[in-house]
Formats: sequence, C-alpha cells, structure tokens
Amino acid sequence: MIPFTLWFTGLSGAGKTTLATAMHTEFARLGLPAITLDGDTFRQDLCKDLGFSKKDREENLKRAASLALTKLQEGQIVLSAFISPYEHTRSQIRHQLNQYPFIEVFLDCTLEICEMRDHKGLYKKARSGLIPQFTGISDIYETPRHPELVLSTHQDSIDTCLYKIRTLLDQKNLIKQYTQIAT
Ligand code: ADX
Repeated sequence: MIPFTLWFTGLSGAGKTTLATAMHTEFARLGLPAITLDGDTFRQDLCKDLGFSKKDREENLKRAASLALTKLQEGQIVLSAFISPYEHTRSQIRHQLNQYPFIEVFLDCTLEICEMRDHKGLYKKARSGLIPQFTGISDIYETPRHPELVLSTHQDSIDTCLYKIRTLLDQKNLIKQYTQIAT
C-alpha cells in the first residue's frame, strides 16, 4: 500500500476545506481509506490550547504532521487543510512525511476575493482590529516556492480544481498504484 499526502495550503477562505472534503468524498467513492485533518477542527480540539503566534502556528502544524504520519503508517491517504503560512514549516512537514509521496497544493486565491467571500466574518473583524495576527491582513503568508500543484481558486470552479488534482494523481500513478495494491 502506498498512501500519500495532499497538503492544501492557502489563505483563510481560499477553499482548503472545500477541496479536501470533496477529494475525501472522491476517495471514499473509490473505496480508498482517507482522513481529512482540518485547521478549524484541530483548533477546537487537539490544538485548542494554541493561538496564532508564529510559535503556536508551528506547534499546531507539528501536531498535524505527527498525526498525518501515524495515519500514513496505518495506510490512509491524508488530506490536510491548514493555512500553513510559513515555507520553513511546510518544508519541515514535507521532510517529516517524505517516506510517502507528498503533494503540496497551493490554493492561489487573492486576498481581495477571500476577503470578499468572508464566510466566517473573520476578515471584517481582522480589519477592525478585533482579531490580531490575522493571516493576509496583519500576519504573513509566504507563497509556496515549489508546490506540486497551484490552483487558482478565485478563477477555477470546484470541479475544475478537482479535475486538476485527479489528473496530477493519475500522472503520478498514485491512485492506480494504490488501487492495484489495495485490491
Ligand atoms: S495555521 O496558520 O496554524 O495553519 P489553521 O489552518 O490551523 O492556521 O487555522 C486557520 C483558521 O483559524 C482560519 O480558517 C480561521 O477560521 C481561524 N482563525 C482565527 N484566527 C485566525 C488568525 N489570526 N489567522 C488566521 N486564521 C485565524
């Protein structure tokens, strides 16, 4: 069995949870075991003691990567949806999980669009100073230097993004390889 990681990174509102959840459904349809690790869920449970300082974000992602490794070792595909704003941390995670194929997917959505969407009303609060250290407003997001895939989620539809992910997985022979071994 060769499980792999799909690590979605991008601003809040860029579509990480939406795409990770949709891909998870796709894997379930194919009968492939998968788990989704999501920043918002983590922060309500496993990481509820953490805030959004650099140190806390790094700790949040460290815990996510540890759980990801355990799940990969169990044979599950890992889908992760965290802002993961620092190049250094992302490359540490890549290194930690490097026994398995690691696919970094950068959701390249402009701040303007994320802010316009503002599903959770957080950008508005961040602009008015109610939320400090808000990624994209008052905290840094470092654009990934070498992601395996860049998706323009402000332009492409969800279906187009899913198609692009699936195409990459096919090109890398991951789904086929996984299915062959699993059956
Ligand atoms: S990360 O930076 O540590 O990777 P993570 O993905 O877990 O972040 O959590 C991001 C989510 O927390 C956002 O989607 C948003 O809902 C919420 N959030 C609350 N405060 C902040 C903040 N200061 N910066 C970014 N996101 C925040």
